[in-house]
Amino acid sequence: MTHFDTALSQHVQRTDTGRLRHLITLDGLTRNEITALLDLAQFYVRKPHELPARDQSLAGHTVANLFFEPSTRTRVSFELAAQRLGAYVVNLDMQTSSRVKGETVLDTLYTLQAMHADVLVMRDAEPGLPAQVAPFVASHVSILNAGEAHVSHPTQGLLDALTIRQHKPDFNNLSILIVGDLMHSRVARSTWRALNTLGIGEVRIAGPEHLLPPAHEFKGAIRHTDINKAIQDVDVVMALRIQKERMQQAHIPDDSGYCREFGLTPERMKLAKPDAIVMHPAPMNRGVEITDDVADGKQSVIQQQVTNGVAVRMAVLATIARGAHGQ
Ligand code: NCD
Repeated sequence: MTHFDTALSQHVQRTDTGRLRHLITLDGLTRNEITALLDLAQFYVRKPHELPARDQSLAGHTVANLFFEPSTRTRVSFELAAQRLGAYVVNLDMQTSSRVKGETVLDTLYTLQAMHADVLVMRDAEPGLPAQVAPFVASHVSILNAGEAHVSHPTQGLLDALTIRQHKPDFNNLSILIVGDLMHSRVARSTWRALNTLGIGEVRIAGPEHLLPPAHEFKGAIRHTDINKAIQDVDVVMALRIQKERMQQAHIPDDSGYCREFGLTPERMKLAKPDAIVMHPAPMNRGVEITDDVADGKQSVIQQQVTNGVAVRMAVLATIARGAHGQ
């Protein structure tokens, strides 16, 4: 798999004065910037029985969701986040959009821009696409990356960091294990970036050799191919989905063999710290990378990740709207 250079993404996402106008990558964001986004997200978090937070930060704006790959959580949470900030929201059905007739992505963006959509949320299987289109949209329009191939998924990285911070705020002394298909995971890349910038103590990565990322990525992380060693005494365990859609048939592990060797089972969880939390970005392959008992057990914060996803996207939308309009 080719390594995608994020220097362009870092450069194009800021205005000339350094404000964040698009969110394409977490690379290059400072610790203060990430902390400010998490603090604002925390401000938007409500308890399950309370009504969701709302304000008018995005009143008059129009947010368009363009998902060229499947999504449940990310798309719905961007939609709810935008609505709760007072924006108009349009969701394009990409199966019936003109892209299937051969229209370029840029022409689709220009079409939305001509209708006064000013925040364009994009998910696409093509590496580099958000950074390539960002320089061509009008100066008041923002591109938000909602998942770029295997490369990055910045809002997921932020929501994972927020979830960990809510349970384990002392980042310097934390040990986290990310286990599974790291090779194809944009989530792992963005979460790792966020945690690194926030000064996480130790990151371990584990999975079958052919699903671990190339050596130049995840610098400083400790690599394991034996999960029973990797999980010893960690504070946070994050399981990843096997991304079959990004693999050649020959590389796809069989489900039960994978669960035996790398699945998060109650027995394995006993090797982590007793108060360790369990995370998964979902969608989950139950019985493959995680068993029901662990996914639905006391240590699981998987639903909390989903709740935090809306708060994080509210924080990103509010911050970007300010950056794009120079406030
Ligand atoms: C992830 C994604 O799309 O990258 N899902 C998500 O956004 N919560 C992870 C996955 O698909 O496995």
